Amino acid sequence: MKTVSINPRSSVPKYSQLREILLDLIEAELAYDALIPSERELVDRYGLSRMTVRQAINNLVAEGRLYRVAGKGTFVARPKVEMPLRLTSFTEDMIARGQRPGSRDLERSIDGASGQVARALGLNLGDAVHAMVRLRTADLVPMAIERSYIPVQVAPGLEDVTLTDRSLYEILATRFGVALDHGEQTIEAGIVDAEDAPLLGLRPGSAVLLVERRSFAQGRPVEFTISTYRGDRYQLHVGLDVTLPPLAGALGAMRV
Ligand code: GLP
Repeated sequence: MKTVSINPRSSVPKYSQLREILLDLIEAELAYDALIPSERELVDRYGLSRMTVRQAINNLVAEGRLYRVAGKGTFVARPKVEMPLRLTSFTEDMIARGQRPGSRDLERSIDGASGQVARALGLNLGDAVHAMVRLRTADLVPMAIERSYIPVQVAPGLEDVTLTDRSLYEILATRFGVALDHGEQTIEAGIVDAEDAPLLGLRPGSAVLLVERRSFAQGRPVEFTISTYRGDRYQLHVGLDVTLPPLAGALGAMRV
């Protein structure tokens, strides 16, 4: 481990300085699931109080960079999963990352569409929809809870098909001939609720990403899903283009 020291005269709080040191250590030297030095070692090495060390570690745990195992210590977390911005399934995303996708049916029913579901799927209030709540895992680690609604008309008989460790999109395509060709998605920050927290292995009040997706087949909305993704396991990355103001663009073109 490189010895970088804490600058007591810096305006940057000591716990933030230690956080930076630990981040460098995580990125440069430690593989995921590696044990980081104990609080006591960090106290001795950097001449900090136990409280300061704990605060730096707590922040990194909350950010999803480290995780604790009771009685064992604190470990480096896996890199976060890039949330895909394409119409792909959870199963495809995990396989593409070399992880084993999993799915557990938590609830399955046929319900009357609520206002929100009816609007999203272009149905009338009370029209029959398949409602399903699934826990999604990657290499057995909980990643997301997905609440999906599909018009019964689109997939009659889906209620008899287990979705445990199966891909909904694949079943829609192979059993019901529904080929999704378009989607739209809204992503916003949220706080995990009391029901989802234990299923996702999160403390109450942890950050999550709430993803609402509508997917279409031949112009018709066929799926509405509200997914709760672990905030400590997902991140979003987008490329940014520069748009030239119209005048600058025109002048540029004239010069050519
Ligand atoms: C993603 C989407 C969900 C979709 C799911 C289907 O996770 N956010 O809206 O229902 O993929 O995944 P699978 O086909 O693996 O069940």
